[in-house]
Amino acid sequence: ASGGAARNGRPKSGIRQVFSKFSPSPLSMKQFIDFGSANACEKTSFVFLRQELPVRLANIMKEIDFLPDKLLGTPSLKLLTSWYSQSLLELIEFLEKDPDDKDVLFTQALINIRNRHNNVVPTMAQGVVEYKDAFGVDPVTNQNVQYFLDRFYMSRISTRMLMNQHTLIFNGSVNPAHPKHIGSIDPTCDVVEVVKDAYETSKMLCEQYYLTSPDMEIKEVNSKNTGQPIHIVYVPSHLYHMLFELFKNAMRATVETHETSPTLPQVKVRVSLGTEDLTIKMSDRGGGVPLRKIERLFSYMYSTAPSPVHVDNSRNAPLAGFGYGLPISRLYAKYFQGDLQLYSMEGFGTSAVIYLKALSSESVERLPVYNKSALRRYQSTTEADDWSIPSKEPKKLSKYESTQ
Ligand SMILES: Nc1ncnc2c1ncn2[C@@H]1O[C@H](COP(=O)(O)OP(=O)(O)OP(=O)(O)O)[C@@H](O)[C@H]1O
Ligand SMILES: [Mg+2]
Repeated sequence: ASGGAARNGRPKSGIRQVFSKFSPSPLSMKQFIDFGSANACEKTSFVFLRQELPVRLANIMKEIDFLPDKLLGTPSLKLLTSWYSQSLLELIEFLEKDPDDKDVLFTQALINIRNRHNNVVPTMAQGVVEYKDAFGVDPVTNQNVQYFLDRFYMSRISTRMLMNQHTLIFNGSVNPAHPKHIGSIDPTCDVVEVVKDAYETSKMLCEQYYLTSPDMEIKEVNSKNTGQPIHIVYVPSHLYHMLFELFKNAMRATVETHETSPTLPQVKVRVSLGTEDLTIKMSDRGGGVPLRKIERLFSYMYSTAPSPVHVDNSRNAPLAGFGYGLPISRLYAKYFQGDLQLYSMEGFGTSAVIYLKALSSESVERLPVYNKSALRRYQSTTEADDWSIPSKEPKKLSKYESTQ
């Protein structure tokens, strides 16, 4: 389908076609640091980003095209896709610019694009709700939407990371609060400090809402440097995001299952550093979740939440919003090759575990690639499950006995 003409005469869809043929180039934490250390070169960053950002946008736009028509047709999705097309157009204009020209307004363009995409998550969520209200949810649609949204939001995390790094590093000043930070990266991020920050903010929210909150116990085990605080090269805001979401969930579960008891059991956090993993485990005694429901907690479609319209006012956000806390946190963990998992004991409590790479050389971006395998996922048709389904009516075994 032709998508109208761009200013330079090439059809819009042609641009997307061209850039989606390239695979995204994942950066390592080391490359991010090199881009922004003493010999930071704005020109190198500019030349890289004017190619890489269109590639990442075009790759994910190809996947958007495979969403069900009924979802693509919602007003929310129409708005959202228009943002992507517009941003792609604005970015490719820079391919014709001379990198040595000081008047290239690339940084400002990135800021505009970042702002344009600020509400992508609630807008997409709104589209999903509209679709769900109109057509319901079935396991196949849920699975497809899950596959897409994990990739879509991961792509967004990555493009925002790239844009943030460029705008923060080349804005001509150092961050006075954190002079050692390289853009959004802290080369010596103190994990326990971030845990404490996230706990305090969540505690404040919890007390506003429930007038009480559980205490925290925190233990640190540094197997590499016994007794030393645990540091990691990481994006503190990403780590904070994950921990804050986990604390809100743990506190809510704790308070709600102990409404009638005089004391609240603590939320226990353990941070450990090994040779490969940095692991953070948060355990609550909030009654737990049955195993059958665990996978659903990470689902965008099955999330219990009502309409996301209520979360706009983040200042008054209660401890539970539109049900994206866990899935988005897991994406942040996976973005640099980590993970986030829940282990629950129904009737007792839950442990949430964040795994991060201990070594910055192994912290490399994990990006969706639009290729044949992805295409196959979108084109696959409904197939019967290849495991038996427990039936409500037990088979009459006597029938078989009688034939023997
Ligand atoms: N520690 C926990 N103990 C018991 N239930 C939990 C725990 N963590 C999550 N849950 C359940 O999982 C659901 C999904 O959690 P998630 O954080 O993804 O969304 P939410 O808390 O409902 O909303 P949001 O986080 O977007 O504000 C929660 O509503 C809650 O029912
Ligand atoms: Mg939550």
